[in-house]
Amino acid sequence: MDNRPIGVFDSGLGGLTVVKELIDELPNEDIIYFGDTARIPYGTRSKEIVEKYSSQCVRFLETQNVKMVVVACNTVSSCCLHVLRSKFHIPILGVIEPGAQAAVAATNNNRIGIIGTEGTISSRAYEKAILSYAPNTSIYSKACSLFVPIVEEGWANTEIAYLTAKKYLDTIKAMEIDTLVLGCTHFPLLAKVIQTVMGDGVTLINPAEGTALNVKQILTESDMLNLDENKGVYSFFVSDFGQKFEQIGSNFLGQNIVCAQKIDIEKY
Ligand code: DGL
Repeated sequence: MDNRPIGVFDSGLGGLTVVKELIDELPNEDIIYFGDTARIPYGTRSKEIVEKYSSQCVRFLETQNVKMVVVACNTVSSCCLHVLRSKFHIPILGVIEPGAQAAVAATNNNRIGIIGTEGTISSRAYEKAILSYAPNTSIYSKACSLFVPIVEEGWANTEIAYLTAKKYLDTIKAMEIDTLVLGCTHFPLLAKVIQTVMGDGVTLINPAEGTALNVKQILTESDMLNLDENKGVYSFFVSDFGQKFEQIGSNFLGQNIVCAQKIDIEKY
């Protein structure tokens, strides 16, 4: 048994999609969340910068005495997971493998689409992971960078989101995929709009779901579950204040985020 909290980080509030799944799967685990709101987006930055930023995020979480780190950010998971694992001794989990496994399990026609940030798509991390499980799969990828600011702005369910989704997804829809990986923390918040554009015949994969199951499995196997029967305590840290973090984050999590604390991430 290990009652220390689970650390989760992302470039902004999108990683709360992973926190939501963790709370569902592991309701009595404490969670420390860090959103690098001062430096979002990561998805359009160079690998070197994303490596530097994400290392600072892990260092900060280590100061919070976390028992493991979940990299909610797809961009970091796809380009730097191995670097982070080699730098730090704490267990570090990403979202790519669970997302890829779920997509392979869901497809019937072996045609899978992947959408993410520029960084995630150009790394081809999802593609490689999917092909390692199912080599005969046809994969169609598309960077959808504008989805991120649309969600951060609180415009997920607007006409702007719909038109943007249509513009990005029409080509991928034409490829007759039956499964689409939402390969970015923010995209599950656009699931309604994306499903409308893609049609009901396409299964949307939220990698956060498989990630939460993966965390549960690892904590169980390594005897690190929090066996305390109380509901978990959640603490939120950001690198810049946005009222929006608390507002949009609370709506999304379905519970109030109050008192997100601001930290100086450059110190780590
Ligand atoms: N968290 C990022 C991801 O999942 C999206 C936002 C960003 O570009 O930083 O790829």
